[in-house]
Amino acid sequence: MELLDLAVFLKREWKSGGNRPVLAGKVLGMVFQKPSLRTRVSFEVGMKHLGGDALYLSPDEIGLGKRESIADVARVLSGYVQGIMARVFAHDHVLELAKWASVPVINGLSDYNHPCQGLGDIMTVYEHFGRVEGLKVAFIGDGNNVATSLLMASALLGANFSIASPPGYELKASTLVKARPLAEDSHITIETFEDPIAAVADADVVYTDTWTSMGQEAEAAERRKRFQKYQVNTQLLAKASKGAIVMHCLPAHRGEELTDEVADGPQSKIFPQAENRMHAQKAVLVELMS
Ligand code: CP
Ligand code: NVA
Repeated sequence: MELLDLAVFLKREWKSGGNRPVLAGKVLGMVFQKPSLRTRVSFEVGMKHLGGDALYLSPDEIGLGKRESIADVARVLSGYVQGIMARVFAHDHVLELAKWASVPVINGLSDYNHPCQGLGDIMTVYEHFGRVEGLKVAFIGDGNNVATSLLMASALLGANFSIASPPGYELKASTLVKARPLAEDSHITIETFEDPIAAVADADVVYTDTWTSMGQEAEAAERRKRFQKYQVNTQLLAKASKGAIVMHCLPAHRGEELTDEVADGPQSKIFPQAENRMHAQKAVLVELMS
């Protein structure tokens, strides 16, 4: 909650003239194994807002674990930069970076989770409703990295969580095992369904993400077939709570997991949500690097 309040404070400070340069002289090294628009730009611009700088390191340059071992990359980078943000395929790779780096390492998405997304998402919910506790967040589609972080953020901050996925594409059982104790502490429910209509009943937030994540391109045709029923469209949204908002981490595949009508409709929060990635991450950067 403190991180969310700091994010809201930094956003307000930025909008009313600018942030103080609390990260002056500090550089964030950004290691990418996959493409990005939001993560790259929001971290880079966020660092500049705080008086620091950021360095984009493309997949070709670093060759994480290929050109050089992850342990060596971590130790070399730690001599140059004051923080590392990494977007990786295998979650173990970001853990390995964190193990060897002597500077903070931020997960900018792995095949397991996307915590910076979860933070920006919950900030967006908090701003819109003025609270998180007691709300219901429904995720429609693949039990993927974004769903995992949304579940963890919801469970930590007291929002009920439901998810509808086709058989074989559910959240990992181990993820649910990790989330249950958090849910118990926060007195919230976690419900899993196959039927999207069941999942969105009374939901305050209807969330979706791509059917095919980065790295799963070979499965795209099969997934397109399996996920046909899991589109957030006007009919499905009508089954949610009347004041429900629609969220998507982006990039969106309009006409697949989300219709244009919903993405551009009055309940959509997808662009403020994308902006909030930057404000939320600035709070993380201040916490870790100032
Ligand atoms: N939502 C998100 O992480 O977007 P990018 O892949 O463009 O960074
Ligand atoms: N689940 C998506 C999220 C992209 C931000 C992916 O991993 O490709």
